[in-house]
Amino acid sequence: MLSTKIESVLKELEMQRDIEKKREEEGGLLPTEERSLAITREEGEFLYLLLKAMNAKVVIEIGTSFGYSTIWLAAAVSEIGGKVISYDVLPKKIEEATKNLNKAGLSDFTELILGDAKELIKKINNPVDVVFLDADKRDYIEFITLALKKLRIGGVILSDNVLDCPEIHEDEPEICEEIMDFINNHPQCSSITIPFLPNGLEMTLRETY
Ligand SMILES: C[S@@+](CC[C@H](N)C(=O)[O-])C[C@H]1O[C@@H](n2cnc3c(N)ncnc32)[C@H](O)[C@@H]1O
Repeated sequence: MLSTKIESVLKELEMQRDIEKKREEEGGLLPTEERSLAITREEGEFLYLLLKAMNAKVVIEIGTSFGYSTIWLAAAVSEIGGKVISYDVLPKKIEEATKNLNKAGLSDFTELILGDAKELIKKINNPVDVVFLDADKRDYIEFITLALKKLRIGGVILSDNVLDCPEIHEDEPEICEEIMDFINNHPQCSSITIPFLPNGLEMTLRETY
């Protein structure tokens, strides 16, 4: 169950995301540093329930932004006694996310790290329960390959935007096909697309080493 403190920060960020979406529809695209690009509430609720169902204690997030999805992940691990390690390459995003996680009272359950997740994930030692992937789609295959080096059997990689990927990458839709081919033909994994709209979330289960 979410505390009123958590709920109020989530609502604030949802309002911010809706304003951002409206501006975009009207043609006023904000600079990347100022865009939250957050997942939907429905996806957040799913992450929260899945982590609790899995008793996930070591959770990695690639793409923190302002911390909306991090709050859902951290809310779950706060009830289990785990930790979310979340990476973003932009200092402004880590700064904003730090404020939001503090306001939600979840900073004890998160480690927000500035830098390229492709390098940082290599430093993780523990067997990882869940990796939530929400960054540049061009890097998804590399991220998934690196994540699988850390993921325990029965662990899960959740990759966001598998349905709206061709829209995001209009000029290079082959990126999206390559990601799905890679996931669906991976010998160690089974995978299913959860049709949360508009993003689409791919849930990939590690079955063997
Ligand atoms: C779609 S946003 C994340 C939204 C966030 N997960 C949420 O739902 O609230 C993607 C973020 O990934 C970050 N990013 C892109 N490439 C990255 C990389 N190689 N390592 C870490 N972060 C990266 C971007 O700076 C951006 O803030």
